[in-house]
Amino acid sequence: MLSVSGLTLSHGAAVAVRDVSFEVREHEVTVLLGANGAGKTTIMMALSGLLPVRAGDIRLDGHRITGAGNDRLVGLGIVQVPQGRQVFPGMTVRENLELGAFLRRDRNVGTDLDRIFAHFPKLAERTGQTAGTLSGGEQQMLAIGRALMGKPRLLLLDEPSLGLAPVIVDAVYDIVAELVRDGLTILLAEQNVAKALSVAARGFVLENGTVIASGSGAELAATDFVHRAYLGSSDDDLPHDAER
Ligand SMILES: Nc1ncnc2c1ncn2[C@@H]1O[C@H](COP(=O)(O)OP(=O)(O)OP(=O)(O)O)[C@@H](O)[C@H]1O
Ligand SMILES: [Mg+2]
Repeated sequence: MLSVSGLTLSHGAAVAVRDVSFEVREHEVTVLLGANGAGKTTIMMALSGLLPVRAGDIRLDGHRITGAGNDRLVGLGIVQVPQGRQVFPGMTVRENLELGAFLRRDRNVGTDLDRIFAHFPKLAERTGQTAGTLSGGEQQMLAIGRALMGKPRLLLLDEPSLGLAPVIVDAVYDIVAELVRDGLTILLAEQNVAKALSVAARGFVLENGTVIASGSGAELAATDFVHRAYLGSSDDDLPHDAER
């Protein structure tokens, strides 16, 4: 569905991502693993049209979308859930969700709100509550719900587990799995290797802005990067299953 080749990105004069190539296949989770500062968010920003592309090519279904702006990309069905959630704290849950539909041509928002609330029953109980008073987990759910209101084909999900308690991370990932079962395609950036590999069909590992490994979940599980991430935990925690 999405094909990225030779992507090079910079912040000012500093090159943050160099010659990165990868594919995102339809109806799968593709994961972008990497430590702090590896370049995951930088790639997500470029794929959302929020950071200019220095070099390389981005294609959606074979059509070149390199350099397209955020509005156009949202219109094409590429919607990002930014790192750190970024809900509008002074607005209610419902208002935050309605904002997610802002760029849509059809304004048949009511039925979509119901669909979102079916995924996130906690939000349904809190439609009139201001977003700033939600828990971290609820804010992450709201950020995902807002993106879903944009009717994405491809959801860019940047570190959804960041700063959340393990039980809440599990709840977020249950929803990720549910969304993919329903037909969504997801590009996920994560430092939480175990959770990411529990839902990802394939992915790649980024180090200092370049891809150092790529493959199926099982192939990634065999890389040094993933082994290092599991240091201190038992080997039994390592995903071995090729289906992951
Ligand atoms: N706005 C910015 N201005 C200048 N440099 C930046 C900016 N944002 C990121 N960088 C730099 O670009 C590199 C990649 O950062 P990026 O945020 O993409 O990493 P990341 O993989 O998302 O890390 P994390 O897991 O901590 O979110 C880092 O060296 C970072 O310092
Ligand atoms: Mg990041």
